[in-house]
Amino acid sequence: MKANMGLEGIVVTDTILSEVDGEAGRLVLRGLTLEQLAGHRSFEEVLDLLLAGLLEPHGRTREALGPARAAAYALLPAADPTLQALSPIEELRVLLARLPDGVDFDAAMLLIAAPAVYTAALLRRRAGMQPIAPDPSLGHAQDFLRMLRASAVPDEDAAALDQYLVTVADHGLNASTFAGRVVASTQAGLTSAVVAALSALKGPLHGGAPGPVLDMLDAIGLPGNAARWIEQELNRGERLMGFGHRIYRVRDPRADSLKAALRQLTAAAGGPGERLVLAEAVERAALEALRREKPGRRIETNVEFYTALLLEALGIPREAFTCVFAMGRVGGWIGHAREQALTGRLIRPASRYTGPQPHAEPASSANFAEALL
Ligand code: ACO
Repeated sequence: MKANMGLEGIVVTDTILSEVDGEAGRLVLRGLTLEQLAGHRSFEEVLDLLLAGLLEPHGRTREALGPARAAAYALLPAADPTLQALSPIEELRVLLARLPDGVDFDAAMLLIAAPAVYTAALLRRRAGMQPIAPDPSLGHAQDFLRMLRASAVPDEDAAALDQYLVTVADHGLNASTFAGRVVASTQAGLTSAVVAALSALKGPLHGGAPGPVLDMLDAIGLPGNAARWIEQELNRGERLMGFGHRIYRVRDPRADSLKAALRQLTAAAGGPGERLVLAEAVERAALEALRREKPGRRIETNVEFYTALLLEALGIPREAFTCVFAMGRVGGWIGHAREQALTGRLIRPASRYTGPQPHAEPASSANFAEALL
């Protein structure tokens, strides 16, 4: 029998952090549903919730995260053209990898602060501008937008980004979290776990999808083009970015949370705007086509679809969307890394060897390479 290459349905850990119920479309973070948290609790409060019992002291994120942003900023290296030649998420990976590998509360706060500080700094440098220092007195979402824009941030913008960060803060044993837990199980430290997780997040099948969602909307252009464009993509065997999920067989509750945040933000700006009208037409056409073309697959809108629209509405460049996802998910990664490390158990699963069995006579050096094929 072939091994289960995607590990679907295989339970490899217990966790107190989050539960993803794919049939009910429900996400629970430490006993509270996403609906009870998003729009009601700040990102800092949700970090306190996630990290309770896993890091000491507890309940101090709000006061610690601002100074941690200042500490991360002090460690920002000088501009480096070789880093700017990378994509933003690749540059962020390098900048995070330079941080020391601790396991305590301060190390965790530095790692949670750093993606926001470094993403704002690297985007400004790419636009030919100087990075802006953090303001430790502000909330994390508000300060990120201020560092990016170099101007005061309207409360509704900060609230929308804060709701995004809460919405993506943790999500069961997704690919990046699993990668982070594997590294944490070796007792390598939090930076190593976070860098591994970030590397997994980068891929388009995980956290790299929202930029391509906007590329799709641009290519479609007008609501009337949606059905034909989608049909052509599916006929070519392409996947539609922002749809489908390994666990959710009904609508991803995070998509609803982000759509609500987007509606609130666009209402403050005077109405839904053409982009949202186009997006809703594309979503309808995509779901209709996927139901027709992939019957029985139960493919629905995922978190990345409305992530793309919300982050675009906040003026964040699409090439940095995955960095902003990392800003939100890093707390979850750290919670899982701590939970795993505290078990003291190394993750070391087994593989089944399907290569050739050894020959009785070892290959001579002349036909050695052929013997390997
Ligand atoms: N567009 C078109 N077809 C799709 C899509 C999609 N978005 N998603 C799944 N399918 C099809 C597959 O082609 C496959 O069809 P087949 O059986 O005829 O070959 C079938 O549905 C099942 O696909 P799987 O890959 O087995 O589904 P899985 O649950 O493993 O995939 C995944 C999940 C990787 C997210 C997939 O839905 C996808 O590629 N989506 C697009 C990328 C995306 O939006 N990624 C972000 C995910 S959310 C997150 O990670 C934060």
